[in-house]
Amino acid sequence: MNDRYFSRRTIRKYSEEPVSSGLLNRILEAGTRASTTGNMQVYSIIVSCSPEMKLKLAPAHFNQPMVTAAPVVLTFCADFNRFNKWCRQRGAEPGFDNFLSFMTAAIDALLVAQTVCNAAEEEGLGICYLGTTTYNADRIIDVLGLPAGVVPVTTVTLGWPAEVPDQVDRLPLYAVIHDESYENYAPETIDEIYREKEAREDSLKFVAENNKKTLAQVFTDVRYKKADNEFFTGKFLEVLRKQGFLNGL
Ligand SMILES: Cc1cc2nc3c(=O)[nH]c(=O)nc-3n(C[C@H](O)[C@H](O)[C@H](O)COP(=O)(O)O)c2cc1C
Repeated sequence: MNDRYFSRRTIRKYSEEPVSSGLLNRILEAGTRASTTGNMQVYSIIVSCSPEMKLKLAPAHFNQPMVTAAPVVLTFCADFNRFNKWCRQRGAEPGFDNFLSFMTAAIDALLVAQTVCNAAEEEGLGICYLGTTTYNADRIIDVLGLPAGVVPVTTVTLGWPAEVPDQVDRLPLYAVIHDESYENYAPETIDEIYREKEAREDSLKFVAENNKKTLAQVFTDVRYKKADNEFFTGKFLEVLRKQGFLNGL
């Protein structure tokens, strides 16, 4: 196995050097070899390279600097629009206007996204996922002109690395692997699994900077607050309804 899996990190700073269209196409072509439900390819990838489009997208990503600084911004969308059109043009009545079909297309989109990322990193490029796509999917739909049946599910910024950030931690493997069936976590196991993460200097700094008592509180009270989660859930459900994925609900 290639060692790059063990040394990888998210890259948020990019050099000025463009990514050639030849290389980008090859990476995208590799990405589309990812597994896809029923070989339907119910996804689309919007490639944004122009400064104008990146400027328009930036606010939807809360102006995270990677959006305008990266040479390439890829928006991965769950997309039944194309497939539905094909069905209708061939005398087949599609039944994909429901939540299950959204999940199918979202899974397809995420699989192609990760395969594109693997291919890009293999070529020495750096990538950063943007979770803001699902927060502000409504704005992204407007900017990119996404029709009904299409919902953006994630964004990846791509470019030549201009930084080598420290690698961040991971939980020990046994924390996430279950042997044959799920073994629920006793309180002592939770303590053990998170001990190293909590003791890290960067974690302690993070807790202090945010005036919190524990690292978990930084996640619940600062980074991913209940009220925000509920607000953005409402927005995203509205997007799913508008794009035609909640019929029958
Ligand atoms: C779905 C998803 C959304 C993410 N959203 C953001 C984001 O909005 N901004 C950002 O800087 N990093 C984002 N990341 C990157 C994660 O912060 C990063 O993968 C994690 O901290 C682990 O770091 P590593 O990739 O360097 O190992 C996202 C990652 C994923 C998988």
